[in-house]
Amino acid sequence: VTVHVVPDAPALADAAAEWLAQRIARTPALTVLVATGQTPMGMYAQLAERVRAGTLDCSGVTAVQLDEYAGLPEGDPRSLRAWMLRSFVTPLGVQTVVPLLDPAAFTGRLAALGGLDVAVLGLGPNGHVGFNEPPSGPDAPTREVALTPESLRSNAAYWSGLTVPTRAVTAGMDVILGARETLLLVSGAHKCAILSEALDGPETPLVPASFLRRTALTVLADRDARP
Ligand code: F6R
Repeated sequence: VTVHVVPDAPALADAAAEWLAQRIARTPALTVLVATGQTPMGMYAQLAERVRAGTLDCSGVTAVQLDEYAGLPEGDPRSLRAWMLRSFVTPLGVQTVVPLLDPAAFTGRLAALGGLDVAVLGLGPNGHVGFNEPPSGPDAPTREVALTPESLRSNAAYWSGLTVPTRAVTAGMDVILGARETLLLVSGAHKCAILSEALDGPETPLVPASFLRRTALTVLADRDARP
């Protein structure tokens, strides 16, 4: 495990963009699991900037969706797929997307691609990874899950008064832990305690992110999250 602590969120965005840009430069057909949520948005904006400037070409990249709410109407702008398209796929000029709707189709397509090269992840306030809510062990498969009250609360911000969907589909822990490299982005004092549990505590299904230590893991955290 490599842990890099940077001063603040903008520095986190820069370092994370550089980390992924290097890998795309080395492997233009990189297969990347793409988290949404707030934390990686600065990173994606930095990558988009490089694409606009002509210093990065993402047209060979395959973007793989990490998680999705269950039962949303087709094309709902609050779907995580729509968020991934807006923040990553379109601005980076990515041509190939593996959507996450049906777990069996997703798992089959990923196997045909030879698995994930890279997983870009955020850290849930309760230690979730994707929507692998606690408890989730390392073998938890791609599946439909019930969201925890904590996740419903943190998602409510994006649903402005509407009822937050209570179920989701998530790439399994087995898929995530199978990535050849993992980048975990963590920002803010509210993530400090859970990051410490994930990195310094025991590996436990109660903190699904604790299993990321089994992978070739790079953690990028700002000083608020890792003083
Ligand atoms: C998003 C996702 C979630 C978030 C996590 C952290 O696709 O899978 O696990 O990464 O909830 O969210 P933020 O970055 O908003 O703190």
